Amino acid sequence: MYSYGYMESSIGYMAFEATKNKASYYHSRHHFSRVANFAKHILINEYSDYKILKDVLVAAFFHDTGRLNDHEDPAHGYRSAMVLDSYKSNLPFSFDEESVRFAILNHCKKEGETSFLPVVSSFFCQGSIDKRIAACLWDADRLDLLRDAEYKKINVDFLSTEYAKMFANTPEHLAFYK
Ligand SMILES: [Fe+2]
Ligand SMILES: [Fe+2]
Repeated sequence: MYSYGYMESSIGYMAFEATKNKASYYHSRHHFSRVANFAKHILINEYSDYKILKDVLVAAFFHDTGRLNDHEDPAHGYRSAMVLDSYKSNLPFSFDEESVRFAILNHCKKEGETSFLPVVSSFFCQGSIDKRIAACLWDADRLDLLRDAEYKKINVDFLSTEYAKMFANTPEHLAFYK
């Protein structure tokens, strides 16, 4: 049994080791850490289920590891899922690979499958995929758009969870970017 702190730091360390473009500015280790932090808060406040914390953290820390640049890179979800595949045996625990792969593969889709909004309810899922993991990652990633000064406000229509919709654009959220 690993402590949450140890688990979180070991995933974070491994994700940065695995990152293809370590010089990235907008998709740096600071982005990975903020996304992991937001994702954890979304999980706790929206779903109150610590059983999937490790899955949410793996998705959050690895979601951009395959990015090659800070601009248009539509294949980076696929590439990041491949990076995780090649590193997963180094992680000191097992995780819900199918659900984490779904979350990472689709996190950069610009539209959903049943509506133009890329929220989890707009995607088809097969088998036992736990969409809560994708909801935590996608909302956390969108909350961190404010790291780019061009973004003044998060459009809550693009968020999947009620907690992230409530948290977005609050003074508590903006405080991360001062
Ligand atoms: Fe991404
Ligand atoms: Fe990201």
